[in-house]
Formats: sequence, structure tokens, C-alpha cells
Amino acid sequence: MKINNKNIWITGASSGIGRGLSVEMSKYNTTIVLSARNVIELEKVKFECEQNGAKCIIQKIDLSNPEEIISATENVFSKIKNVDILVNNGGISQRAFSYETDISVDRRIMEVNYFGSITLTKLVLPKMIEQKSGYILAVSSIVGAFGFPLRSAYSASKHALHGFYETLYFEVKKYNINVSVVLPGRVKTDVSKNALTKNGTKYGKMDDGQDSGISVEKCAKKIIKGINKNKKEMAVGGSELAMLFVKRRLPFIFNMIVNKIKPT
Ligand SMILES: NC(=O)c1ccc[n+]([C@@H]2O[C@H](COP(=O)([O-])OP(=O)(O)OC[C@H]3O[C@@H](n4cnc5c(N)ncnc54)[C@H](OP(=O)(O)O)[C@@H]3O)[C@@H](O)[C@H]2O)c1
Repeated sequence: MKINNKNIWITGASSGIGRGLSVEMSKYNTTIVLSARNVIELEKVKFECEQNGAKCIIQKIDLSNPEEIISATENVFSKIKNVDILVNNGGISQRAFSYETDISVDRRIMEVNYFGSITLTKLVLPKMIEQKSGYILAVSSIVGAFGFPLRSAYSASKHALHGFYETLYFEVKKYNINVSVVLPGRVKTDVSKNALTKNGTKYGKMDDGQDSGISVEKCAKKIIKGINKNKKEMAVGGSELAMLFVKRRLPFIFNMIVNKIKPT
């Protein structure tokens, strides 16, 4: 799908990849619904996108609150008649051992990353089905394809996205709706700072790995290219993407090297 002149809804637009994607997509005469919890940051993104010629609507959303997702969707559809592209990007990571992480933290990560994403998708889909066109993206992670230390709940939530969205891909093909899953490797954002520790507090540190990641601009451009080509899966990042190949084709090597990679 070409993104020119489209109505696009992006979650997690207040920061990092979602912010970069909003700014990049604003260069195509688009109308963008910017969603996240931090409205002050969303206002800054709106300003930047409008400088590029886009029309923007700010819609506050807390992905851990299903009622808020429902009312947000009603509000958005009272302002624009349809959503052509939904980017489920908002999410939260983890920096804690599975055996130390409080179960409430596991649940919170699942709620935001998985249930938040699929709740919004289910609310936006009926209009796409009615209009017989649409594009749904789910931002997963390379750890949506394998397990990795300190990220048990995060990895589980991203694996769950793959199951849901691949099924959806096959189900809605007949309505001319494309579904893509994005697997970022390392992108330089605040994701590690915002990650949850074993008791649910913010980790607060920029990981070395994160710091050496690709820029959000580069990530956004690659995702837009992938949308243009209707790609079903898009891996976006640097040399760490080799891990996807090693996991699939050389699992015995994968098992030997994972614990040698610094997880922070
Ligand atoms: N950066 C990477 O290397 C990397 C790698 C793999 C996957 N990813 C994925 O990429 C996506 C974006 O992450 P990022 O790297 O850009 O991190 P980020 O800078 O921390 O951005 C996360 C975004 O998610 C939003 N968010 C978090 N909790 C939310 C909630 N309860 N309700 C609504 N929005 C919420 C945040 O907005 P508010 O705080 O304003 O709500 C923020 O806009 C995430 O799904 C992440 O898992 C990132």
C-alpha cells in the first residue's frame, strides 16, 4: 500500500520508533492520529508533523485500559471516517530475570503489548472489512522470534503477537487487508530506560546495545518501504538481525551463543 494521502493511526507516537514513524509518514500528505499516554510529548510530535504538511489528531490512549481504547476509537471515528493504516507500536520492555519478576509485571507487559494491540485492532478492523481495504502493522521484536535473557514476559508478549497477526493475515486477505509484523532489532530509543524491572519500576538506564542501535529515522524509512511492498514480515536493525537466521537455520549455534551476548 502506498501511504500517500492515507489516514494513519499510530500508537506509541510520543517517543522512539512511533515518533520517528509519525514524522516520516507526515511527509506524504497524510492524516495521522497520534496516540500514547503522554499528551505533552504528542503535542510536540503533532507540531513537527504539521510542519511537514500532515493533518494530525491527538488521541490519548492507555493500552492497558480496554475501556479507554473503546472510547478512543469512538472519538477517532467521530473525527475521521476511516483508518487506512493502523500501526500498533506502543509497548513496554523488561529488564529482569523471569524467576524474580513479580507476576503482576508479567501481566502488565502482556496487557500493554498484546491485549492493548489486539483490542485496538479488533475495533478498527470492522470498518476496514466494510471498505474492503486496509493495512495493519504490529511492531514486535526480534525477541518475538526467540527467547532472550531478562525479557521473559516481553518476549512472550511479542511471540503472542506473531500468533495473532499471522492468523489475522490469512483471515483478512479476502477483504484486501494486509497485515505485517515488524521485528526491530536494536533501535536507539528510550525503550530500555522505560523497561520494567522485577517489581514494575522503570529500569531507567540506556543499554549499551540500545545506544548502538540504528536511528529511528532509518527504522521508520525501512518500515515505510515494507508497507509500500506489502511485506508480511519486516526485520529492521543492524547486524543483530543475523540472530533470526541463526535461530531458524542453526539452532544448536543459537543455543551456544545466546548467553554470550550482553543482555543490557
Ligand atoms: N527500540 C528497540 O530497539 C526496539 C526493539 C524491538 C522492539 N521494539 C518495539 O518498538 C515499539 C516502540 O518502542 P520504542 O523503542 O520506540 O520505545 P519507547 O521510546 O519507550 O516508546 C514506547 C512507546 O510506547 C508507548 N506506551 C508505553 N506504554 C503505553 C501504554 N500503557 N499505553 C499507551 N502507550 C504506551 C509510549 O508512550 P507513553 O509513555 O506516552 O504512553 C511510547 O510512545 C515497542 O513495541 C517496542 O517493544 C523496540
